[in-house]
Amino acid sequence: MSARQSDELARVRAALNRVWRQPSTEAPAFDAVRECTYADRLRRRQPGDTTLGLSPHADGGSVERWCDPGYQRVYGEVLFGDPTRYDPFDATHRVSIDQIPSPAVCSVFRTFQGWTALSQQGPGDGTLQLIPIANLMGWIVLRALQPDVAGDDLCGAKAGNALAFDARWHGPAAEALVSIPRVQPGDTVWWHNDIIHAVEAEHRGKSSSNVIYIGAAPWCPKNAAFLPRQAQCFLQGRSCPDFAAEDYEVDFEGRATEDDLTPLGRRQMGLDPR
Ligand SMILES: [Fe+2]
Repeated sequence: MSARQSDELARVRAALNRVWRQPSTEAPAFDAVRECTYADRLRRRQPGDTTLGLSPHADGGSVERWCDPGYQRVYGEVLFGDPTRYDPFDATHRVSIDQIPSPAVCSVFRTFQGWTALSQQGPGDGTLQLIPIANLMGWIVLRALQPDVAGDDLCGAKAGNALAFDARWHGPAAEALVSIPRVQPGDTVWWHNDIIHAVEAEHRGKSSSNVIYIGAAPWCPKNAAFLPRQAQCFLQGRSCPDFAAEDYEVDFEGRATEDDLTPLGRRQMGLDPR
């Protein structure tokens, strides 16, 4: 909770939000300086673990990238215009995407997904991997529409799942998958919400490899609508409504409660109007 309501991280997230381009003519798509808490999970990984790896994928839905009217506008230049003009940092239509509800799908708008190290770790320690190319998704969207892909297939995209990156279809880009450099506790890594990411299959290091996920989720109608549902779960100690209802903390002694929230934490949780 301390990390999620940290002033320093709130400032970093606001700075990252401003990397995005707001609509030029209408009201801003989101409030860059006001952040929402998104109670994503944390990972504690022991040396030798082979169970907590993740194959390369993108979050924020799968088939929706082709089927949802909001996503069709996000990738409008790719699908209907000039793909070279596609700007992955254009926020105009990003906040009006509708994902298929699923425990595998993030239903808030994040400008950047975020990763804060809770232990020292480096390549080989079961750490994060990225294909750090923000506009690669434009290519992935087009790739699924090529004549060698069956008409009822989108390179294996499955509704209700993360969008899998499949080396069979996306081979040339697979060469760009890199592990993040060695980090110290408190170091953060941020990636555009379309970026393909993975977690190394095996932890071959010698000490725990731990991380908490704290992304940048700016205030917008979509995120504001999510907050009351999440706040109810937080107050009852239940899992964030975007994840499977594991509800581990319901009976925990000393779990975070409303009393542990700072004024910033309350605002980010949507418990105070501003
Ligand atoms: Fe992910």
